[in-house]
Amino acid sequence: MAQARPGDAPPIHDLVGIGFGPSNVAMAIALSEHNARAGRQDAVTAQFFEVQPRFGWHRGMLIDDATMQVSFLKDLVTLRNPASEFSFLCYLKSRGRLVDFINHKSLFPLRVEFHDYLEWAAAQVDDMVCYGHEVVGVTPVLSDGVVEHLDVTVRSGEGLALHRARNLVIGTGLRPLMPEGVERTEHVWHTSELLTRVEGMAGAAPSRFIVVGAGQSAAENVAYLHRRFPGAEVCAVFTRYGYSPADDSGFANRIFDPEAVDEFFTAPEDVKRGLMDYHRNTNYSVVDIDLIDDLYRQMYQEKVLGTERLRFLNVSRLTEVKEDPGAGVRATVRSLVTGEETPLDADAVVFATGYRPADPLGLLGEVADRCLRDEEGRVRVGRDYRIGTEPGVRCGIYVQGGTEHTHGITSSLLSNTAVRVGEILDSLLGRSPGSGSGAARTVADGTGRTAR
Ligand code: FDA
Repeated sequence: MAQARPGDAPPIHDLVGIGFGPSNVAMAIALSEHNARAGRQDAVTAQFFEVQPRFGWHRGMLIDDATMQVSFLKDLVTLRNPASEFSFLCYLKSRGRLVDFINHKSLFPLRVEFHDYLEWAAAQVDDMVCYGHEVVGVTPVLSDGVVEHLDVTVRSGEGLALHRARNLVIGTGLRPLMPEGVERTEHVWHTSELLTRVEGMAGAAPSRFIVVGAGQSAAENVAYLHRRFPGAEVCAVFTRYGYSPADDSGFANRIFDPEAVDEFFTAPEDVKRGLMDYHRNTNYSVVDIDLIDDLYRQMYQEKVLGTERLRFLNVSRLTEVKEDPGAGVRATVRSLVTGEETPLDADAVVFATGYRPADPLGLLGEVADRCLRDEEGRVRVGRDYRIGTEPGVRCGIYVQGGTEHTHGITSSLLSNTAVRVGEILDSLLGRSPGSGSGAARTVADGTGRTAR
């Protein structure tokens, strides 16, 4: 790959992608399928940058028995191109497990298996990605007062390099969220680092873990730590009365459909808020019913046998957590009913307190000042996932993620990835100089669907 030091003329790409998680892997596949079909002059050149040294999707949570929360048919390609060679079914075939998977009669692969699929797919488009490269900044390149290109600064083991882009696609994913004032330490973890931290405990004989939260990750942590450390007590702390099941029934599941994005996008603000509230329980702070049943069964069995080491401190809040040098942590749990405080010493506290989307404008520097925001200060994004910009910005800045306020609940999920990247590609092609008056027909303020 051509590299330019600051000061040199940088290589120009039609598209630079930031991050190479599932969203931008799907983008790279859509581009490679387009380029295979298109003539040489219509090919789209692209370069993706990924800070991790190799492909990895939530590695800290690849618990061996955890399954996907989405059908394998919502893989990186199928909803866009059911005949794609990058599908989960083609992956299964290449691994020699197609028939075994069919006999398994499940739509929901193991998470480790889906990770292997993603890695397999990413490997086939790895000519488009540089691993171990972090994008650290973006600056506008002006020509006659118009921002025609963006210069992307990338840091790697070899230092800084510049790449010039006609378009950007930001797919930087989610960031772990800790409660305010709580710092991660050797004994205070976020769920995203679970397996790495547990590996680091090899040979230890922990006596207690505390898991904070009542969502899917929290419940998975409780079940995993209980199974992995047969001598340890596991205390689940949450403000709810009990775990609530995820609604994955047919009608509710339609909120993840591609058409639901169209409807959400055009709906009035109050309807958008209503839809998010009604269907929050398809994704947020909920747990797969099978896992809830397993945990309840386990808790009851221990009660019967008098071997209780699975404790549920419900309607409670963890109010304090202090490092106890050499020993672990001292935590305090307060009952929200009685106000009673229970001190708990533990080897580790795991916060399963969720994630927040990375700020899409965070990397854009002064370009961010040219991006439009709505009345609530949220970034304006067009139906084609292009950030609304001032008229003097000709290059396209697309976002995958961080669009829940405009495109709905699928924004940070896998369900709509295949379709979304097709829509971004269509928009890119529609706006490219080689496609006639595409650029002129684009709705430039990011408030409407690209007219094609
Ligand atoms: P993702 O976060 O996966 O990737 C972003 C990438 O960008 C990362 O690899 C990161 O290193 C890189 N990056 C960030 N900043 C960078 C920079 N400045 N320079 C270079 N690289 C940078 N959803 C679903 O639909 N079904 C499911 O079953 C699950 N399961 C699931 C399990 C767990 C444990 C979690 C935490 C989340 C899920 N999800 C999910 C939701 C999840 O957000 C989704 O699966 C994808 O990770 C979204 O893919 P992205 O590529 O958008 O982000």
